[in-house]
Amino acid sequence: MNDRFLRACRRQPVDRAPLWIMRQAGRYLPEYRELRARVDFLTLCRTPELAVEASLQPLQRFDLDASIIFSDILLPLEALGCELTFDPAPKIARPLKTVADIAALTPRPLAEVVPYVGESIALLRRELAGRVPVIGFCGAPFTLASYMVEGGGSKSFILIKRLMFEQPKLAHVLFEKLTRTLIPYLEMQVDAGARIVQIFDSWGGELSPHDFETFSLPYLQRMVSALKAKGVPVIVFGTAMSTHLPLLRRTGADVLGVDWRIEIDQARALAGPDVALQGNLDPLALFLPRAELEARVGDILRRAGPVGHIFNLGHGILPPTDPEAAKHLVEAVHRLGCHVTAPASP
Ligand code: CP3
Repeated sequence: MNDRFLRACRRQPVDRAPLWIMRQAGRYLPEYRELRARVDFLTLCRTPELAVEASLQPLQRFDLDASIIFSDILLPLEALGCELTFDPAPKIARPLKTVADIAALTPRPLAEVVPYVGESIALLRRELAGRVPVIGFCGAPFTLASYMVEGGGSKSFILIKRLMFEQPKLAHVLFEKLTRTLIPYLEMQVDAGARIVQIFDSWGGELSPHDFETFSLPYLQRMVSALKAKGVPVIVFGTAMSTHLPLLRRTGADVLGVDWRIEIDQARALAGPDVALQGNLDPLALFLPRAELEARVGDILRRAGPVGHIFNLGHGILPPTDPEAAKHLVEAVHRLGCHVTAPASP
């Protein structure tokens, strides 16, 4: 078993920096587009054989150190009665508007609503046969609540912030219900064979430090501590969150995701020495000439140092990216991220 990833999560020595690519399965790969031409996105997520096929596509091309299960952060919201569509951007059929809407959210058993996630993880683990560990994941309560209240993606987060500021108790009821759904959802993924879990608070950087501390941090802390009790390392990821790093270290996560808006050595200074960091190449750097891409990879590896670093993009790889550029990235990390000194030639 390639355990480089797990070792880096725990800040143990590794032969080279482990690497995976955020959203490594997806539309930048022609073989994914072919698969999607045959089935819609939700069917793909809900059919274990197909979800596993999508999860494995990037690993068939690139020598990556982890496989993330193919799914979406929004799928467990169906356990709270949300109806979802993807085109490809997600849409929620009836966004939450009133006290009654939030009161009516009654969690249904995950085993009934999302049984396919556990089945996909178990199948993926069998297919990988120990090659690399499987990452399970979910969204953070704030990020998921923003979709439930806004009805889809948002630029200004007006509706969710108005809920938090005008009716904070009600907002906490929503975050509480989400937390109680998400902890067993992640536990189920670990029981099915996930060796690492990542919590995506993709939009947590939209909150001021005070609001992040009030509305996101307490729920992240509970999720992290429940999952650490299951014995798996936990990664907490967000974007535009560098100023929140001193708060993020209080989540208790083993690994914090860092985007490209800060140098990773400065992120280390803010996060402290006891946590591993994941990141932090700008996904658009994959459009640079090869030599410049390599220079940026080398710079990140030097700044991050040899211990407690997982190489990744600072956010998801973008659909127009050339898979050849991803290949160059992987080769560069393999070459430049090596921490074993070659024996001196005789
Ligand atoms: O390899 C992987 O990481 C794939 C599994 C995965 C998907 N979504 C598949 C997907 C993961 C880990 C996610 C997480 C996710 N989903 C996040 C957090 C990560 C982040 O980028 O911040 C968020 C915010 C979502 C919500 C979501 N789902 C959005 C905003 C979109 C539209 C994306 C786009 O680029 O248009 C989706 C749909 C989605 N989820 C796609 C994929 C491959 C595209 C759907 C398609 O193939 O038509």
